[in-house]
Amino acid sequence: MEKDLSDPECCEAAVEVSVKKAKIMRIFIAFAAGMAGLLFGLDIGVISGALPFISEQFTLSSRLQEWVVSTMMLGAALGAISTGWISFKIGRKYTLLAGASLFMVGSLSSAFAPNVEVLLVSRVLLGFAVGIASYVAPLYLSEMSQKEDRGRLISMYQLMVTLGILVAFISDTIFSYGGHWRWMLGVISIPALLLLTAVFGLPDSPRWLASKGKFSKAKDILKMLNASEEKAEDEMDEIKESLKVKQEGWGLFRANKNVRRAVYLGMLLQAMQQFTGMNIILYYAPKIFKLAGFQTTEQQMIATVICGVTNVLATFIAMKTVDNSGRKPILKIGFSVIALGTFLLGVCLFMIDAGFSAVWISFVAVAVTLLTIAGFAMSAGPVVWILCSEIQPLKSRDFGIACSTTMNWICNMIIGATFLTMLNNLGTASTFWVYTGLNILFVILTIFFIPETKGVSLEKIEMNLMEGKKLKDIGVN
Ligand code: BGC
Repeated sequence: MEKDLSDPECCEAAVEVSVKKAKIMRIFIAFAAGMAGLLFGLDIGVISGALPFISEQFTLSSRLQEWVVSTMMLGAALGAISTGWISFKIGRKYTLLAGASLFMVGSLSSAFAPNVEVLLVSRVLLGFAVGIASYVAPLYLSEMSQKEDRGRLISMYQLMVTLGILVAFISDTIFSYGGHWRWMLGVISIPALLLLTAVFGLPDSPRWLASKGKFSKAKDILKMLNASEEKAEDEMDEIKESLKVKQEGWGLFRANKNVRRAVYLGMLLQAMQQFTGMNIILYYAPKIFKLAGFQTTEQQMIATVICGVTNVLATFIAMKTVDNSGRKPILKIGFSVIALGTFLLGVCLFMIDAGFSAVWISFVAVAVTLLTIAGFAMSAGPVVWILCSEIQPLKSRDFGIACSTTMNWICNMIIGATFLTMLNNLGTASTFWVYTGLNILFVILTIFFIPETKGVSLEKIEMNLMEGKKLKDIGVN
């Protein structure tokens, strides 16, 4: 029977159905992109629990252990730098698909690695997948979300990263009882398969479609996401308007000093995030707890899970405060807390090295490790990703974000590759004190160079930047 469209009840029901459909699709999009964040976290988190067993099986030197950890970062840097181009060519959806497939292949090949060489190559592949995920998932989310929930979605993405790390720690703990490192690495192929399946159901980004001239397809997707012809029309007009601005990253970078300033600021922010030393605690948590006197693998793994829980919970503090108190105060507090935490951790490890064997020192070492993690998760963890997505001018946004994301992975690799060498050469306490010094420096850099972007439109930030205002003032309304 034909529907009578002039009947208001029939129209209302139809609108209700499309609003419901739009809501379900938005949840699905958040879930699928969140899965990419989860895999990012799983791959970062898994290695700390697996490393002791891998080293035993393949009798690895300190240098090779560092490479098992840091080859993934090398792959991620390569992945992030090439994804700008790939995702422009084949679109966000198919880039995510490529990432999900690589996650599958990398997880399985590292689980079945017969020797350390195959393991290292698999880690590079996995890294490439992580690099793709860390570039394209937040970009896809920002292109699919509405202006009002963009910031929250990026923080949620970071929350999924921390959840991934936690799940990896828990699964490492379970498998550690039998020393099953192959299972630790292999089990990640399950969420990878889930992501792979989910990506098939994702719509392509309307912005990307429009940039390829596929306007009617883009409009259909906007209609489905907005559940309103009018809103879709408005958004389509905005997209067409922004398409008039040609993306010309490298050319603009060379020609325009202000664009260069934004790119350098993004890279500085990511370097600061990594040189807090947070990842050392994540990658080498069992080792830190062993140094602190927790001798059994079981004790060390449980302490590591507690680290993961702290990381997740403290991320909520940032999600709650970043739009009220602002980015800068959170960063200053966060870096100060990390400086204090790493300083005290150094003191505890110094006392342990000097032969103090009181049980309380071990507990204080664990407490200050947790404090350091909380300091990071409530500040630099999410805030750096948020700031990096806010400060790049539209014309060179893809280029700028590709540069800052790549910087994140390069610094991550440097830290992973040097930590054990630093421990051996400087001693445990001094190694952590180096990071104390760096975090104090970051408080100063935050005061003098980092802008406050809370509640300011991206257009205003861009205008200030292009007018040549000081970097710390580009968020002034
Ligand atoms: C960082 C990662 C880090 C993670 C920890 C992310 O923001 O980029 O390097 O491992 O946070 O939660």
